Amino acid sequence: MNTRRALVTGGAGFLGSHLCDALLADGYYVVAADNLITGSLENIAHLRNDSRFEFVEQDVCQPADWGALAYVFHFASPASPVDYAKHGIATLRVGSYGTFEALEAARRSGAKFMMASTSECYGDPLIHPQLETYWGNVNPIGPRSVYDEAKRFSEAVTAAYHRYHKVDTRILRIFNTYGPRMQIQDGRVIPTFMWQALRGEDLTVYGDGSQTRSFCYVSDEIDGILRLSRSDEHTPVNIGNPIEFTILECAQKVIAVTGSRSQIKYEPLPQDDPKQRRPDISKAKRLLGWDPHVDLETGLKLSLDYFRKAMLEKTA
Ligand SMILES: NC(=O)c1ccc[n+]([C@@H]2O[C@H](COP(=O)([O-])OP(=O)(O)OC[C@H]3O[C@@H](n4cnc5c(N)ncnc54)[C@H](O)[C@@H]3O)[C@@H](O)[C@H]2O)c1
Repeated sequence: MNTRRALVTGGAGFLGSHLCDALLADGYYVVAADNLITGSLENIAHLRNDSRFEFVEQDVCQPADWGALAYVFHFASPASPVDYAKHGIATLRVGSYGTFEALEAARRSGAKFMMASTSECYGDPLIHPQLETYWGNVNPIGPRSVYDEAKRFSEAVTAAYHRYHKVDTRILRIFNTYGPRMQIQDGRVIPTFMWQALRGEDLTVYGDGSQTRSFCYVSDEIDGILRLSRSDEHTPVNIGNPIEFTILECAQKVIAVTGSRSQIKYEPLPQDDPKQRRPDISKAKRLLGWDPHVDLETGLKLSLDYFRKAMLEKTA
């Protein structure tokens, strides 16, 4: 086994590319596999000349020989509501066939494995905050089910490979994470508000804006991912920021940070939109000694230059 070589599926995506950076900094050789369905080569352009980095354009639902690996990080999947609505079948495929292939790659190499799961596994939760032991409240055939059920299935396959094949697996439940390299028009809350505020358009708030979300800055998320990757925990672990904001408060913060004159406009709530989402991170604190440090205002300020540039590029 090559102790220094990691495969990152979805490595040209927002989180995958930050993970590649962190693994390279940690001394790994990194292979990023991505079919660019929602990712971008721009996210990894700065790694082009790094001899310890390799990019392979590949649909990870297809079998492939990756050579000897020490770690497989399975991050490939459309992730934003706009993307998985557009690519519903591809989302189900990568969460099923893609997860099997990634687990097989780990099994063949005797590599460790991590699957990027999501708070969407909890659906529209009936308990707050969400503990890992909560099984969720998911509509199996609703518009979000292509993503939610793909991730729940992915978790099931990962747990089964651990149980039956003794693969050394980890399941990471990511809660809303934001920061540079997100697509500015992917329909997620912060890029959408940034886009609207930076263009001086009114910010769209669904319902009365009292639904809550918690937002984790990307550097905190990556720190949690690395800590989990080094742990021996096989059951799911929430990694997200537990500080809860209403969507309205979030819109107001974006307006303040961007110095925009935009106002708020209200539209009807979409189907199955969760009313409340907040991770219980006591498990991550206890097992990994992990705690997020970047508050929303700081994270928005750290992301501002990126979003301004992305907005200008889109409108050029
Ligand atoms: N960002 C978040 O807040 C968040 C929250 C919960 C879970 N996640 C999970 O984290 C992972 C990364 O999300 P992200 O926000 O970086 O999204 P992203 O869309 O930026 O990245 C996903 C990457 O996967 C690639 N991909 C998709 N299908 C593929 C396939 N079949 N073969 C190869 N590559 C494929 C895409 O091209 C893209 O580069 C996803 O699995 C997502 O479900 C993210």
